[in-house]
Amino acid sequence: MSLVPVIAVDGPGGAGKGELCIRLSRKYGFSLLDSGAIYRVLAYAALKKGIALDDTVSLVALAKSLNLEFKEENNAVAIILDNENVSKFIRNEETGSAASKVAVISEVRAALLQRQRDFRLAPGLVADGRDMGTVVFPDAQAKIFLDASAEERARRRVLQIEGRGVKADYQKILGEIKERDDRDRNRATAPLKPAPDALVLDSTHLSIEEVVDTAVKFVESKLGK
Ligand code: C5P
Repeated sequence: MSLVPVIAVDGPGGAGKGELCIRLSRKYGFSLLDSGAIYRVLAYAALKKGIALDDTVSLVALAKSLNLEFKEENNAVAIILDNENVSKFIRNEETGSAASKVAVISEVRAALLQRQRDFRLAPGLVADGRDMGTVVFPDAQAKIFLDASAEERARRRVLQIEGRGVKADYQKILGEIKERDDRDRNRATAPLKPAPDALVLDSTHLSIEEVVDTAVKFVESKLGK
């Protein structure tokens, strides 16, 4: 029996993985795993319950009991924690930074492993994260590592925020991006790095269309689509 196909997309925050994964999942009719949202929800729930972000025992218990659902709503995926839609509370940099702190703890990562693997269902999965191709789905049929310079990712983030009519501070955002990158790349367990068999794509000077075209050609060469 052949394994359910997985397209693993890893890389730092803001490189365009989210958009690429949505496009790939629509194109192939595969479901989508936003693994970063799981770490974000865990950090959000911990902060709400007053659990310190380095309290391994309490974080592991919380990770194991997390009542989390992903629901399709109006063409977007809503993140539901204990029957409450928390999507809008977890997308800020404060929660991203908190997520990267709980994500350094190897016991927390282990507690979340099976929850992520359970998303591997027919006809296939697009998995978005930091360790999809290296740890969670090492046998993924197609692995992509989408990178971009920190300066370019900060520039895109500023445009996104200012597009909503809010003023953004480029230097502050760049500092936050670099701090989170450092934590994700230098942790002992499942550090952010390309799998040896990943296609490394640097999107610094590429449009989203160019990224998608290159990724699709690669996926088709691997999945025989
Ligand atoms: O991708 P996103 O920005 O939502 O991820 C938030 C944080 O969660 C990352 O900075 C990283 O520390 C952690 N994460 C992880 N492994 C994943 C996905 C996210 O460690 N597979």
